[in-house]
Amino acid sequence: MVLPSISLLLLLSTCLIMCTYFNFTRAQGGLSLNFYDSSCPKLESIVRKQLKKEFKNDIGQAAGLLRLHFHDCFVQGCDASVLLDGSASGPSERSAPPNLSLRAEAFRIIDDLRRRVHNKCGRVVSCADIIALSARDSVFLSGGPDYAVPLGRRDGLNFATTNSTLANLPAPSSNTTALLTSLATKNFTTTDVVALSDPIMDKTLATNLKTTCPTANSNNTVVLDIRSPNSFDNKYYVDLMNRQGLFTSDQDLYTDSRTRGIVTSFAVNQTLFFEKFVSAMIKMSQLSVLTGREGEIRANCSVVNSDNVLLSSVVGEEQGTSSAF
Ligand code: HEM
Repeated sequence: MVLPSISLLLLLSTCLIMCTYFNFTRAQGGLSLNFYDSSCPKLESIVRKQLKKEFKNDIGQAAGLLRLHFHDCFVQGCDASVLLDGSASGPSERSAPPNLSLRAEAFRIIDDLRRRVHNKCGRVVSCADIIALSARDSVFLSGGPDYAVPLGRRDGLNFATTNSTLANLPAPSSNTTALLTSLATKNFTTTDVVALSDPIMDKTLATNLKTTCPTANSNNTVVLDIRSPNSFDNKYYVDLMNRQGLFTSDQDLYTDSRTRGIVTSFAVNQTLFFEKFVSAMIKMSQLSVLTGREGEIRANCSVVNSDNVLLSSVVGEEQGTSSAF
C-alpha cells in the first residue's frame, strides 16, 4: 500500500510541475516556441545582441519597447498595427492620443531589427514577433525575468481608428474598478492587472512633482517609479505602499481592497512578482494574434506590402467605452 501511494504522489507532483511549466509557456494555436527554428535560427540572438548595444547607449529605450508591445497588443491584438503609417483611409493608430507619447526611437529600433533579421533570413519574421521579442529582451536586459515567447504572429493589414485605440487603452485616471473591468474584457485576472501595472523602468527624473510641474500645462517630466527608474524590479509596488504612485491607475491599486494584498505580496516577494508578470506578459503577447495564412510578413514595418495594399484600411469603429489618456 505504501509504495503505490508514494509513486502516486511522485506522479502527481511530476504532473503538477509539468502542468505548471506547460501552463507557463502555453502557446495559442498557430504560435509555437520553436516557430523559427529552421527558417531563422539566429532570430533571438540577433535581436538580443542588437538590443544590448541599444541599451548600452540608453537603457530608457527598454521602457519604450515594452510599452510599444503593450500598446500594440491591447488595440486590435499583437499585429504590429501600431507601426503602420496613416493612409487615405484615415490617420494612423500611432497618431491616436495614447500613442503620441510612445518613444519615436522604439519605432526606429524595431525597423532596424527587422532589417537585420530579414537580411539574415529573408522576409520570414513578422514585425509583430520582433516587437514581442524586443519587449521580452527589454524586461530581461534591465534586470527582469527571462522567458520564452511563443512566436508565429503575422502582421496586420490595417490599423485601428482613434476611437478604438482610445477605447482599448485604459487612461491613467482610471481607478481600480475601471482597470479591472477594462482588462477583464481581455481575459486578464486581478493578479494579471496588478502584475502588468506599469512596470516602469525609466523616465527623466524629478521627485518633487510640484516643483517640476508647477502648472497644468508644464512640459516637464518625472519618473513613474522613484525608487529604481532604470531597472525592472518590484520597487514600484514598494512605491505604492508608500503612497508614491504617480497616477490614479497606480495608487488606487493599493487603496482598493481587491488589489491591495497583491500589491503587498509583490512588494515583499520579487520572485512572486516576476512569476506573475511573466504569465501575464505571455497572455498579453498572444491577444488576438494573426497566424497561419492571416495577415502578412511586412517587408517594412510601417507599411503594408504593396501586393496587399488594396486590402488595407482602417478597421471599423469598435463599440465600447471611450477613454482618454
Ligand atoms: C493598465 C493600465 C495602464 C495605464 C493606465 C498606463 C499608463 C501609462 C502612462 C500614462 C504612461 C506615461 C506615458 C508618458 O507620458 O510618457 C505610461 C508609461 C509606461 N507604461 Fe504604462 N500604462 C498601463 C499599463 C502598462 C502595461 C501593461 C505595460 C507593459 C507591460 C506598461 C508599460 C509602460 C512603460 C514601460 C512606460 C514607460 C515608457 C517610457 O518611458 O517610454 N504600461 N503608462
